[in-house]
Amino acid sequence: MEAAESTDGGSKVMNVGLLLLATLVVAKLISALIMPRSSKRLPPVVNTWPVLGGLLRFLKGPIVMLRAEYPKLGSVFTLNLLNKKITFLIGPEVSPHFFKAPESDLSQQEVYQFNVPTFGPGVVFDVDYTIRQEQFRFFTEALRVNKLKGYVDQMVMEAEEYFSKWGDSGEVDLKYELEHLIILTASRCLLGEEVRNNLFEDVSALFHDLDNGMLPISVIFPYLPIPAHRRRDQARKKLSHIFSTIIASRKNAGVSQHDLLQCFIDSKYKDGRQTTESEVTGLLIAALFAGQHTSSITSTWTGAYLLCNPKFMSAVVNEQTDLVQKHGDKVDYDVLSEMEVLYRCIKESLRLHPPLIMLLRSSHSDFSVKTKEGVEYDIPKGHIVATSPAFANRLPHIYKEPDSYDPDRFAPGRDEDKAAGAFSYISFGGGRHGCLGEPFAYLQIKAIWSHLLRNFEMELLSPFPETDWNAMVVGVKGSVMVRYKRKVLPLN
Ligand code: HEM
Repeated sequence: MEAAESTDGGSKVMNVGLLLLATLVVAKLISALIMPRSSKRLPPVVNTWPVLGGLLRFLKGPIVMLRAEYPKLGSVFTLNLLNKKITFLIGPEVSPHFFKAPESDLSQQEVYQFNVPTFGPGVVFDVDYTIRQEQFRFFTEALRVNKLKGYVDQMVMEAEEYFSKWGDSGEVDLKYELEHLIILTASRCLLGEEVRNNLFEDVSALFHDLDNGMLPISVIFPYLPIPAHRRRDQARKKLSHIFSTIIASRKNAGVSQHDLLQCFIDSKYKDGRQTTESEVTGLLIAALFAGQHTSSITSTWTGAYLLCNPKFMSAVVNEQTDLVQKHGDKVDYDVLSEMEVLYRCIKESLRLHPPLIMLLRSSHSDFSVKTKEGVEYDIPKGHIVATSPAFANRLPHIYKEPDSYDPDRFAPGRDEDKAAGAFSYISFGGGRHGCLGEPFAYLQIKAIWSHLLRNFEMELLSPFPETDWNAMVVGVKGSVMVRYKRKVLPLN
């Protein structure tokens, strides 16, 4: 009996063992059947030469690559770039996750790490997300309407002072002039009057070295020991010293100014901790990097387009005439906010020429997207995910005649960017990391152009400018020569 029981027990064990084995085999078979099906949903891959092919395609220019691949592969595809896979998501149908995902799913930290030696330690991409969020809150607070109103007065004053130095007529490189004016304005509104009045030349030269230290190679090797990086690091140290001195002297004198520097000095983390001098310096550098070239480039494109489009030029001049009739020569926040025609002309220049042509994230979890044709793709974690304002802003299913300059496409009734839903117009990004300086940028560009339109007749002497695709912040290639003549009877 006992022997029979033990044989019975043995066969039971064997049966269980066989069942387990069979289950494992079936599970393996099922997973083998499922896996190829899931890998079939991976995005198509750009066809390149092995090893360096993807890098070469990318270095030739990402927009050239997108123009060639989008018609063949559609709105979602992957480029093998050395040991990385970059998946492009082009257009509003496939990019909501890019813009809305939490940092734990799609993060900026790794892909924008190359900014750390420029911005310095303890700020933005050198700190974890909770601290970064707080630092971006400092930006938000510093750029609220009540603060912007004060900056506008300074913007208007700088423009008046700058153009008062132009003669009655002459020829200038508009690109150089606008770059220079924007550095001056940024110095006053952002860096403060100590820099604007006493240290402008020194600080501009140091920022120039920081700028020149951010090269395409710096994105991959930010600490490569090359002269440009050495100069960048020295400039960063000197700026740190200059701002520490200014901050200390403001604190000692109990002085408070109306500028971004003061906002950052007064900012406090949730735990009550005050910002350090080093953090304040880093945040100011980040603000200048985010806002200076982007705004001056946009001012130049706006001018070039207006000077080549008599219809829109007379529309913006008429708008200024109406505003002068209504408000006299006063230009403040409210008057600038009424300049809707000028706003649309700037917005359209930015649609065609967004200075930040590629936005990146690093994916930490798998996600899926569905194209407008209804095809679903799975993007695995580990991919770099990219979208491109320069390419997506010209999609023909969103914008009518996408390559032509037509500010009226944003006018009430047409609203082409809204008709196609969120993330159709991404010059300022959008969603979770949308630009915090957009209102500041528009106010600054409007303050400059309303002054020029009211006071000068202008004519473009150079051919319509080309795009300088090689720059990190993509702008205008070469000079933009214009002939100006001061109006005998200015509009104001
Ligand atoms: C025409 C001018 C400007 C353009 C085209 C522009 C464009 C952009 C874009 C595309 C992004 C999103 C980046 C991404 O998603 O990876 C961004 C973010 C940002 N911009 Fe701007 N920007 C401009 C002016 C400014 C100015 C003047 C400031 C500050 C004074 C500023 C501060 C910021 C900040 C702090 C962020 C980061 C927001 C975040 O990650 O949460 N920008 N900008």
